[in-house]
Amino acid sequence: MLIRRRAFLCGVVISGLAEGGAWADGASDLAPDFQKDVLPIFDAKCIRCHGGKRRGGKLDMRTMDSLITGGESGPAIKKGNARKSLLIELIHYKEMPPKKERPTVTQGELELLRKWIDAMPMAPAGSSGK
Ligand code: HEC
Repeated sequence: MLIRRRAFLCGVVISGLAEGGAWADGASDLAPDFQKDVLPIFDAKCIRCHGGKRRGGKLDMRTMDSLITGGESGPAIKKGNARKSLLIELIHYKEMPPKKERPTVTQGELELLRKWIDAMPMAPAGSSGK
């Protein structure tokens, strides 16, 4: 009986995570979704300088395509490889958002962005997605 009850509780926890998108604690392995999980972060912290009229470094962060195309320094994200993605590097070294700008990106959000990029299928060799 005890064992069965535990299994039941476990199921409740897992379905709760899937619905709530509890990314901050890194407990779920589901890939974050661009529209639902990632864009709200960019919207709050990046897009006022990277989209519409202002485009710092010529980078528009409003769509996946424009992120992959990137800005003056090349692609902002490298599919399937967060470690080699400029966007992650700049947040990690606290260069983006620029110093003294608020709000900054939290550690939990940075982890979410890393997961999002790492979960992308890599571009086939020889294509432009490098
Ligand atoms: C206050 C305005 C501002 C905010 C907010 C901001 N940026 Fe930037 N960003 C800039 C400017 C300006 C540049 C160009 C810097 C340069 O060329 O020296 C830049 C450059 C970049 C680049 C390099 C583009 C390239 O190809 O050279 C990336 C990647 C980037 N930002 C990511 C982000 C991310 C991610 C966020 C949000 C977490 C963010 N930025 C928030 C102003 C901003």
